[in-house]
Amino acid sequence: MDRTGQELVVSASAAATAGAPAGDPRPAGDPGPAGTPASDTALVAKGDYGALSTPHLSPILGRYFERSWDRGEGHTIYDSAGRGFLDFACGIATTSLGHHHPAVTQAIKDQADKLLHICNALGYLEPVGQLATMLADACPDPLDTVFFGNSGTEAVEAALKLARRVTGRPGIVAFRGAFHGRTFGAASITSSSINYRLGYEPLLPSVYLTPFPNVYRYFGDDEEAATAGAMGALRTLLGHEIPGSSVAAIIIEPIQGEGGFSPAPVAFLRELRALCDENGILLICDEIQSGIARTGKMWAFEHAGIVPDVVCVAKALANGMPIGAIVSRRELQERWGVGAHGTTFGGNPVSCAAGIAVMKTIAEQGLIANAATRGDELIAGLRGLMAADDRIGDVRGRGLMVGVELVRDRATREPDTETSEALVQACAEQGLLILNCGTHHNVIRFLPPIDATADEIARGVELFGAALQSLPRNGTSAGI
Ligand SMILES: Cc1ncc(COP(=O)(O)O)c(C=O)c1O
Repeated sequence: MDRTGQELVVSASAAATAGAPAGDPRPAGDPGPAGTPASDTALVAKGDYGALSTPHLSPILGRYFERSWDRGEGHTIYDSAGRGFLDFACGIATTSLGHHHPAVTQAIKDQADKLLHICNALGYLEPVGQLATMLADACPDPLDTVFFGNSGTEAVEAALKLARRVTGRPGIVAFRGAFHGRTFGAASITSSSINYRLGYEPLLPSVYLTPFPNVYRYFGDDEEAATAGAMGALRTLLGHEIPGSSVAAIIIEPIQGEGGFSPAPVAFLRELRALCDENGILLICDEIQSGIARTGKMWAFEHAGIVPDVVCVAKALANGMPIGAIVSRRELQERWGVGAHGTTFGGNPVSCAAGIAVMKTIAEQGLIANAATRGDELIAGLRGLMAADDRIGDVRGRGLMVGVELVRDRATREPDTETSEALVQACAEQGLLILNCGTHHNVIRFLPPIDATADEIARGVELFGAALQSLPRNGTSAGI
């Protein structure tokens, strides 16, 4: 399979012949290496990683699919039976250059041969300094200083800690429906699902949630009304509950991700920037899902022509290697103070080497422009489906971060969670890997690789359309 994603379905026998996910060549029941129970060896041979994992893996993780995955090549991910799926989920906006990318894989191998870890507290490493330079160059002025962590959540935690320490203020304002992560600080500003908060209180004090300008769901497609409504609510909050002078930071996803792929209107982001300036509040943009060229710009906030004080980055930065980062102007991190925050693994050299390969590939292959062009094609294709099927209430997004909102009735916009959940599975049956999101789980999110081709986008739309057609209007599908 090459990187074009043309050959989507590969039979198990063909894959086995190719030496791919055939699993353990020993007969079932043959004892594995010392310490591997024979029953586990048999499960591996069968490719049943679910049965292998269930007895000892924590049941805490929710899963979209009860499938066993084996390997990825280009824009195709293969299950353990050798079936290929066009991957428009990208590990939730993470493997944005696809799987087994030659430059990324080579960079990881080279760095692994050289040095896995020393901890940045011990001194300086070339890939770490280089990736920081590239990230700073990819941000508008005056954002020039990078702190590395291991994940998106850690980037958010770092941003919150920086904001409180530097401003000396307690207040943090976040938007309803946002997802920023699952540690106590990040969970305190997350409300895309009640399950992320339930049973964990008391959460971080001095956190205030305010309505997000969700144009489709709450403001009848009217961006001006959404901007006025959400800004009005925010000004009321600052007038009645916490004065602006006590707020350290306002944090926003320029395109709300888990909450339903809802872009904040340009005017709203501009007014928010102005309000922060008026009150000496730091504006934090969480670009963990929307950043690194996904939306047809390097950062989604660029669509509004604003510059935040702090940018949170993770996911696609190292195409699947764990990494997180915040970027701010130097003066803020100088005032944060030496030793005010830290990490053992953050800025791991192997992750940074992968990140360098990602940033180079984006620049060399013009992938920001590609995401913009492919995104236009994707939206046009999905709107074509919408014209023929009134279960689709809205198609929206920027670049290759596109949401399709499913409704029971276009007039009332009642969310159709049932069809959305069934559609994720029906798409997989068609050979398309895709996920849903939204506070009602009724938004299908398209996150294709940013180096996708026009043919792959067309194929994804076709498979999605076929999956939707396979579902009767009650949301169930034959065979699910
Ligand atoms: C916008 C946003 N912020 C933060 C996070 C948390 O990132 P992580 O899962 O890497 O901790 C996510 C993860 O989905 C996210 O989408």
